[in-house]
Amino acid sequence: MSDQPATRRLRSQDWFDRPENPDMTALYLERYLNYGLTAEELQSGKPIIGIAQTGSDLSPCNRHHIVLAERVREGIRTAGGIAIEFPVHPIQETGKRPTAGLDRNLAYLGLVETLYGYPLDGVVLTIGCDKTTPACLMAAATVNLPAIALSVGPMLNGWHEGERTGSGTIIWKARQMLAAGEIDYKGFMELVASSAPSVGYCNTMGTATTMNSLAEALGMQLPGSAAIPAPYRERAQIAYQTGLRIVEMVKEDLKPSDILTRGAFLNAIRVNSAIGGSTNAPIHLAAIARHAGVELSIDDWQEHGQDVPLIVNLQPAGQYLGEDYHHAGGVPAVMGELIAAGLLDEGCMTATGRTVGENIRGRRSKLPDVIRSVDAPLMEAAGFVVLRGNIFDSALMKVSVISPEFRGRYLCNPDDPDAFEGPCVVFDGPEDYHARIDDPATGIDDRTILVMRGAGPIGYPGAAEVVNMRPPAYLIERGIHSLPCIGDGRQSGTSGSPSILNASPEAAVGGNIALLRSGDRLRIDLARARVDLLVSDTELTERRTAFDAAGGYAYPRSQTPWQMIQRRLVTQLETGAVLEGADGFQQLAQTAGLPRDSH
Ligand code: FES
Ligand code: MG
Repeated sequence: MSDQPATRRLRSQDWFDRPENPDMTALYLERYLNYGLTAEELQSGKPIIGIAQTGSDLSPCNRHHIVLAERVREGIRTAGGIAIEFPVHPIQETGKRPTAGLDRNLAYLGLVETLYGYPLDGVVLTIGCDKTTPACLMAAATVNLPAIALSVGPMLNGWHEGERTGSGTIIWKARQMLAAGEIDYKGFMELVASSAPSVGYCNTMGTATTMNSLAEALGMQLPGSAAIPAPYRERAQIAYQTGLRIVEMVKEDLKPSDILTRGAFLNAIRVNSAIGGSTNAPIHLAAIARHAGVELSIDDWQEHGQDVPLIVNLQPAGQYLGEDYHHAGGVPAVMGELIAAGLLDEGCMTATGRTVGENIRGRRSKLPDVIRSVDAPLMEAAGFVVLRGNIFDSALMKVSVISPEFRGRYLCNPDDPDAFEGPCVVFDGPEDYHARIDDPATGIDDRTILVMRGAGPIGYPGAAEVVNMRPPAYLIERGIHSLPCIGDGRQSGTSGSPSILNASPEAAVGGNIALLRSGDRLRIDLARARVDLLVSDTELTERRTAFDAAGGYAYPRSQTPWQMIQRRLVTQLETGAVLEGADGFQQLAQTAGLPRDSH
């Protein structure tokens, strides 16, 4: 590591060191001196490194970044840079109503403005809670300044009465126990709270661990960074190393466009199958790819991800939690196992300045029950099935959470174990579901397919995680713990529910899911990757005519200005729910030139 200034002129010098324009230089310089920085520092040509701070009291999953940022700063200083920390719009998955799904694009927009409009040469992206990771990566891809991500790390393992309790996953179980009368209100709170024993993000393989793992698989974090639990000493140590490294990256001019290539995204898709990753990952990777200008389609998940086995034994698909994942070797061990089986592109560049193969080759699992080898997986061909049919253009199903009991109950005949049929019951939004699910008059039995609509990016708005619906209490008491669910919304990555979700287009834009009626028969055929409503084309056409005449699908009005703006611009889940047109600003630090002066 050198302590020398970068040899090229850095963009921050256009703010702080422009002898030909003393007026503007003085204007920019004076305010950054007012808390103790010196003119010598700011005019030294040292890289100015932003720390994009996603932690706050409102974002408890990422709050530990406030502490870790101290170590990041020390790394930046030691490597010869100057750290400038700034806030990112808060996103907290469980606390934000009506859904944090609204906030990813808002945080993205804010971070793009910050990275582009201020004197920054590089940035450390502090990632963690579900949507903080894609929001930061989308912005870094757009602006294309040197960028490295730092996970806050998962919480320690949760424990209750001698058993691991994983965040999110325990809630879905506790809901069933409460519905069945096995625990009371207080017991419910205690059981759920046991899953959150320390600072950090969800300790299950939910969307947070998934997206942090994929940020590392993409090459945007130091190897090993994703899985270190938040309170461990290694977490603060890698924060320091991340600070060191970003300064070097600025000097090398190693940018997101060098790292976020199509090969990197295909690696991430394969890693997602291997880890049993969240069904939110295709939405977020589509969004990051779109802002990076990389072609990536929903079919890539089927083509490149479906055949990859599940090798990580974490809840909800398996049994362990975040600490176990780290002790088994984390993402480098997963990628090492995949490399040993020839399943990864080793040539992709990473934030270390070296390729995936140079970073990872030879790394293997240290706990074979937690991270298996590809030869002895938890499940073969465990990626998502990308489904099509006459009620949507695309939807996803996470194969790794389909239980044998579930398959047994629904298969049409033993010769065709991947196809099942049943009548559906349709809910318009989660309020409708909560009001009617336990009412016997709704008519749900053990062969009913539950449908949730009005839950997409426009209808909800923001696409809510409400498609994983528990069966009625009277079925749970009989031992029926899951029914097939289909919906135009999302589902929590911590849910083990075998749902068909992210259905695009959603009911709110007139997708055929809006034409379903309770009592309709649906056929789900996993082998042929289809879901079909079993009515004639004539019947469908008649329903379409009546639907259009009635003015389309009704959804609640926008309650905030952002809900209104996002609804006007947002694309469907299949294409990442990005803001239409925002993907036309790729690599803007290079293509847009410097921003105009402020005065
Ligand atoms: Fe924030 Fe799970 S709710 S990481
Ligand atoms: Mg969630």
